Amino acid sequence: MNLIESRLRPWRALVLAVVVAAATPAVARPLPASAAIASAHPLATAAGEEILAAGGNAFDAAVAVSAALAVVEPYASGLGGGGFWLLHLAKSGRDVFVDGREVAPAAATPGMYLDASGKPVPGLTLDGALAAGIPGQPAGLAHIASRYGRLPLARSLAPAIRLAEQGVPVHRRMTTGLRFRRPAAEKSPGFMAVFYPGGVVPEEGALIRQPDLAATLRRLAENGSDGFYRGETAERLVAGVRAAGGIWTLEDLAGYRVRERVPLRVSYHGATLISAPLPSAGGIGLAQMLNILAAYDLRAMDAATRKHLLVETMRRAYRDRAIYLGDPDFVSPPVEQLMHPFYAAGLRAGIRLDRATPSSALAAIGTDGSEGHDTTHFSIIDTKGNRVGGTLSINTWYGAAFIAPGTGVVLNNEMDDFTVKPGVANVFELVGAGSNAIAPGKRMLSSMSPTFIESPRGVAVVGTPGGSRIITMNLLATLTWLDGADAATMVSLKRFHHQYEPDVISYEDGAFTADELASLEARGHQLVRSERSFGNMNIVTWDYATGRIEAATDPRGTVVGQVY
Ligand code: GLY
Repeated sequence: MNLIESRLRPWRALVLAVVVAAATPAVARPLPASAAIASAHPLATAAGEEILAAGGNAFDAAVAVSAALAVVEPYASGLGGGGFWLLHLAKSGRDVFVDGREVAPAAATPGMYLDASGKPVPGLTLDGALAAGIPGQPAGLAHIASRYGRLPLARSLAPAIRLAEQGVPVHRRMTTGLRFRRPAAEKSPGFMAVFYPGGVVPEEGALIRQPDLAATLRRLAENGSDGFYRGETAERLVAGVRAAGGIWTLEDLAGYRVRERVPLRVSYHGATLISAPLPSAGGIGLAQMLNILAAYDLRAMDAATRKHLLVETMRRAYRDRAIYLGDPDFVSPPVEQLMHPFYAAGLRAGIRLDRATPSSALAAIGTDGSEGHDTTHFSIIDTKGNRVGGTLSINTWYGAAFIAPGTGVVLNNEMDDFTVKPGVANVFELVGAGSNAIAPGKRMLSSMSPTFIESPRGVAVVGTPGGSRIITMNLLATLTWLDGADAATMVSLKRFHHQYEPDVISYEDGAFTADELASLEARGHQLVRSERSFGNMNIVTWDYATGRIEAATDPRGTVVGQVY
C-alpha cells in the first residue's frame, strides 16, 4: 500500500454525491443573443453555421463541425479516430458526456508492443496499422444525431461530404504534418495516394479532394453507425489493416459501442465546472487542482508565488493520473476519493510556497502499473442555450499515417495512449501504471477534456488539443475566466505546464517574466522553454446579464499560421 492508498483507505466509503451529480435544474435567464461556434478551421465553423441555419440545434451543428474537421484537418481528428462530446441540454438542464473513444482490438495483448527482451519496439505504437485502436467517432456522430439532434444525420454530414468531394485548400499545418510524417506514410500506399499527389507534399493553396472519404461519409449518412462498422466500409478497413500487419477483425468493428457517462462536477469559489470523466483524466485532474487551490487567495499572491503554486498542484494531479487512472469499464480508480476536498487538503499540506517539491519526493509509481498537438477542439452555444464542447483526436500528426485502401479514413495511433510498459513514457512523456495497461476492448486513458465553466457571470465552453497539456491549459483558462477575462484573453494567454515526470516546468515564451523565472529557479524548479506553442483553444462564452455571446479561436491555431 503506498502513501496515497493509506491516505485514501480510511474514508473510501465517503460521499459520492459531492463530486458526481447527474443534472442541474434549468435556471430561467435571458436566452443567448446569438449562436456561436469556435473551431480550429473556418470551413468547419461554416459547416456548423450552415446546419444551424437549416434549423439544426447545437448538437446537429456539433455533428457537422466534427465531420467537417475530419476533412479539413485530416492530421488532427477524423472518422478513423475518436473523441469526447460534452453536451448541455438547455431544456432539462442535463449534462451528458458522449464517450466515442477508441478501444483496443480483441486480439490486443499487454505485451504486443514489446520485443523479446521486454523493451518497447520503437514506432510500433505510432506508425502503421498496428498502432490503431477501433475508431469511435463515427458511432459518436450517429449517436448524437439520433438521440439529441433535430435533423437527420445525412443532413448534418452533407457539408463534410461536399468538402471531401469538392476539395479543400491545403494549408500550412497540413503540409508541415505531411513533411514530418513522410517516413511512416511511405509504408501506406492508401495514405500516399490521398495526401502526396504525384508523390510530393502538395503546395499550400492547392485543392485536395478526398473522394473515398466522401463515399465513406455517404455510407455513414445513409445507414448510420452500421454504414461504417458493418458492410463495405468495415470490410475495406479490416482488409487494409490486416494486409498491413494489423489485428482488427469485422467483429471488433461491429462490436464498437459509444458510452454515455455522467460528467464530473466540481465547485470552486462560487463556480461549477462540468468536465470529462474517465476514460479522460481531464475532469479528475482539473478537480484535484482546483480543490488544492481553493484554500488559497490566489489574487493576493505575487505572480511568481501563484505560478509556483499552480505548478505544484499540476505535479500532484499528474502523479495521481499516472498511478491510478484508466478505463472505468476495466479498472476502478478511486475517483471520488481523489476528487474529495479532504484528499486535496492532504496534498496541500505537502506544498511549500518557498520551494519546489521534487517529483521524486512524492510516492512513486508502482511497477504494476499519456497527448495531442494534433487533436482538435470546438465549442458551440445555440440560441436556446444548448452547448457542446467537443475534443476529437486521431492522436499524433495524421494518426498512424495509414489509410486502408478505398476508405479515405486516416487511422488513429491512440494505442500509444495506453501504458505499453509501466514507467516507460509515451509520445507525450506521460508515464502510467497497470490501470492503463492494454486489454481487449479497453479504452486508452485520455487527457481530452471538454469543459463547461458555469459561474454567476455566465458560461464558458472550454477545451483544446495539446496532449498531456490539455488539462493544465484548461486550468489556466478557468482561472483566467474566474478573474474576469474575456474569451479572447483566455485563448491567447501564455501557458506553462508540469506533469510530474519529467520534473520540469515547460513554458511558452512570455509565460514568465525574467523576475518570475529567477524566482521559480530559486525555489528549485527546472524550467524548459518550449520551441512549440501549446494547444489550439476554441472557446465560446455567454454573459448572463447581457445575453452577449463571444467566440474566440486561439491565435496559435490559425490555419495559415504557426504550427503547434
Ligand atoms: N491522444 C490524446 C488524448 O486522448 O489525450
